Amino acid sequence: MSRSKRKWDHIRFALANGQERTARFEDIAFIHQSLPDVSLDQVKLDTKIGELSVSSPIFINAMTGGGGDRTLQINRDLAIAARNMGMAISVGSQMAALKDPAEAKTYQVVREEYPNGVIIGNLGSEATSDQAKAAIDMIDANALQIHLNVIQELTMPEGDRDFSFALQRIEKIVSDTNVPIIVKEVGFGMSKETIAKLLSIGVTAVDVGGFGGTNFAKIENNRRESSLAFFNDWGIPTSVSIVEAKTMGSGLSVLGSGGIQTSLDIAKAISLGADAVGAAGHFLKILMKEGVEALIEELQFIHDELAIIMTALGARNIADLQQVPIIISGKTHHWLSERNID
Ligand code: FNR
Repeated sequence: MSRSKRKWDHIRFALANGQERTARFEDIAFIHQSLPDVSLDQVKLDTKIGELSVSSPIFINAMTGGGGDRTLQINRDLAIAARNMGMAISVGSQMAALKDPAEAKTYQVVREEYPNGVIIGNLGSEATSDQAKAAIDMIDANALQIHLNVIQELTMPEGDRDFSFALQRIEKIVSDTNVPIIVKEVGFGMSKETIAKLLSIGVTAVDVGGFGGTNFAKIENNRRESSLAFFNDWGIPTSVSIVEAKTMGSGLSVLGSGGIQTSLDIAKAISLGADAVGAAGHFLKILMKEGVEALIEELQFIHDELAIIMTALGARNIADLQQVPIIISGKTHHWLSERNID
């Protein structure tokens, strides 16, 4: 199967299978505050993604690129939506354009539409440091995501089977490039053990890409008859993964993603410690079904609601929201106590 056919299949299946609601944000409750002592117009949503300053704590996560006109149009629309809100945006894996330079325009359209934006490149951990530099140059990227997608590869018959030396390759990319490197998962979550390894090679930002939203094991299994169905329920829920990442110290910038759909999900992810929050499948679904204007409207709505939630909690900014008192119950509580995380 061609790479571009596979990419289109991912978009179709991600939309058809819908977004699951198993990221476990239902386990998180805010403690109501009757005297928040803040006015809505004081609330500020700016934050930092690693060393990068952004005016919104929400970003559009990596989805597509390569695959011709259809993906070019999707990327153009995502860039327009991000620009409208001053949000950061990641492009999909740029490997397609490194293998076929004619595909580069499907990524470069994001920079054309959003010249002053925070735009994040994307490659898998099979990439070399020369490929990382080329991906950064291709879109004048402000940061580069390196995705880890072992389960997705294993569920694809044509996928990789050798995951050796990924950490060494990432270490070289960190030392050879001059933009922040964000290591991300793609919907299976990141454990504190994984993050400890990443910290040991100088990575300073992770996107936990937790379980509970787009599910690539299901997407791959549904594309064919033979299936590794046991991977359908495999992964660390986003709520848990954010807390696991946060225990690794204040030097690490933690991006929360996986199953994010609402302003309340975003507020809860930040209250668990996330510095910024990404969503992919939910935004793509709105774009494909209702168009770019509807996506812009939804993003405006989410930002407005987030500011209202912060007002109720007495949080003037994202740093305040990270500190509000919460109760963690259910599976998330169970998981964290088994993992000896308070
Ligand atoms: C993705 N995702 C992804 N991630 C990545 O690092 N490189 C990529 O090329 C892609 N491609 C891609 C295509 C499509 C159609 C979707 C829906 C997703 C994964 C994405 O960035 C994210 O980690 C997961 O989708 C989980 O987040 P959501 O979708 O639950 O918000």
